Amino acid sequence: MTRNMLSALSLRPALSPVARRWMSAWPSDKKETGIASERSARRKKVTIQHLHQMRQSGTPIAMVTAYDFPTGRACDSYGADITLVGDSLAQVCLGYDSTTKLTLDEMLHHCRAVARGSKLPFLVADMPFGSYHTSPEEAVRNAVRLVQEGGVEAVKLEGGEEIAPTVRRLTSIGIPVMAHVGLLPQRHTALSGYRVQGKDAASARSVYNSALALEDAGAFSVVLEAIPHILGTHITNKLSVPTIGIGAGPNTSGQVLVWDDLMARWHGHKAKFVRRFADVQTEEMKGVSAYVNAVKTRAFPEVVNESYEMDETEWRQFLEGVV
Ligand code: KIV
Repeated sequence: MTRNMLSALSLRPALSPVARRWMSAWPSDKKETGIASERSARRKKVTIQHLHQMRQSGTPIAMVTAYDFPTGRACDSYGADITLVGDSLAQVCLGYDSTTKLTLDEMLHHCRAVARGSKLPFLVADMPFGSYHTSPEEAVRNAVRLVQEGGVEAVKLEGGEEIAPTVRRLTSIGIPVMAHVGLLPQRHTALSGYRVQGKDAASARSVYNSALALEDAGAFSVVLEAIPHILGTHITNKLSVPTIGIGAGPNTSGQVLVWDDLMARWHGHKAKFVRRFADVQTEEMKGVSAYVNAVKTRAFPEVVNESYEMDETEWRQFLEGVV
């Protein structure tokens, strides 16, 4: 950047609200978007202590995944207790066919965006596949990056008793860990697909023992994915930290759903545990098709309401000066 460019920047006056409009950026004041519900205005920052109190009092915990600034801001504005930058990011946003393809740098990029929007919910990020498996020290290095560069407050790790030493090491240096047991999407190849876990006694015992070992290692919460609801209830009753279920029945301390699933960003196959609470795909289809049609038929933009005017004298002067 040249010195002239720098001085031009420092001399530039602050943008007025009107001038900001043409930038198509999210307004800094949530009231301008109409998304500052009374509820979000009254909310306090969610902490681990708060989550543990919710578990004690039987108040359900709502966790939602977010992948960018707008989804992070929606979690903040509409009452989520925990925002999770899930590694489902790989599939739902980046077009990979598996979470195992996601890199730490990609995760960091999205964490930063979510962190700019999600302030009040407790903010957790998945540690990507391969970023915590070699050694507890490698896990510490990468988790520190997620906290320092990504702006998250805690990390989530998939695995059973074998990752307990890593969970212990991370929590010992003050990085809160959310454990994730049951169906482990990062291990879908070894599990021969995305299958419900804990359906027989031996498998149920293994999920149960994992949850106990990870709580003992210091996890502040445990995600239970795709397990029979009676097992979800049993584990929840035995642990003292909150459980967050996804396909683990109604009696866990809280629930989590992937943003794109709950919003129905697409139709077609859905897992049994998914409920669609909105229909974004239909709205996107309606909006984009209507826009394309309006452009092609020249119905958009209108002259009066959607175009700018120019002073007639200025226009005549302009024409006189051009060939
Ligand atoms: O990556 C993710 O979105 C998750 C949730 C499904 C728990 O881990």
